[in-house]
Amino acid sequence: MTAVTSAKDENIVWHQHVIDKGFRANLKKQKPAVLWFTGLSGAGKSTVAGALENRLAELGYHTYLLDGDNVRHGLCSDLGFSDQDRRENIRRIGELAKLMADAGLIVLSAFISPHRTERQLVRDMLPEGEFIEVFVNTALDVCEQRDPKGLYQKARAGEISNFTGIDSEYQVPENPEIDLPAGEKSIEELVELCVEQLESREIIALRQTV
Ligand code: ADX
Repeated sequence: MTAVTSAKDENIVWHQHVIDKGFRANLKKQKPAVLWFTGLSGAGKSTVAGALENRLAELGYHTYLLDGDNVRHGLCSDLGFSDQDRRENIRRIGELAKLMADAGLIVLSAFISPHRTERQLVRDMLPEGEFIEVFVNTALDVCEQRDPKGLYQKARAGEISNFTGIDSEYQVPENPEIDLPAGEKSIEELVELCVEQLESREIIALRQTV
């Protein structure tokens, strides 16, 4: 059996390759970033992140969208929704997002990520300015009314436990880089707000006005 190793193992040395993060990002004419969409189930995280990814592709940028439900089919298929499992879910995704940013990509991640400590954990994994917290700020009653997957109804009926907003806490971001009024504005308007932020942070170039 292979011995379990830790990063602290003295026989494991970090290898600095010639083609590095800066080189890869320059090739793509962008600055790497992790746009961390957080919010309740049904808030619109995946929808806004997907529409933003379309817009960035039109503008010629290189992205990758990590989506809660999809990741839970593979990398995190062994995890449930206890606080402990959610913490591990976010830790793994944070490490994955960090690798993707190292590949020079603009990463869009859409996870409820209900706890401040876990979001902070991912922020701390990345260099200053690379983690951009995007609060998809949709009120619980709006999410519950939308109920796109019928999960709020199941949670209210007691068929699902630990459901965020019902019997599991969501901790609102205190100082998100982007606060999206997602219950009030159109998807196009929300995407535009994100693109403007990416421009002002010089992650992408200013669009040419004609
Ligand atoms: S997180 O809390 O660990 O960040 P994540 O974003 O990966 O959650 O997964 C959330 C998705 O899982 C929801 O959009 C919903 O479709 C589904 N889901 C199933 N059970 C639950 C639950 N108990 N609480 C929240 N979401 C759940």
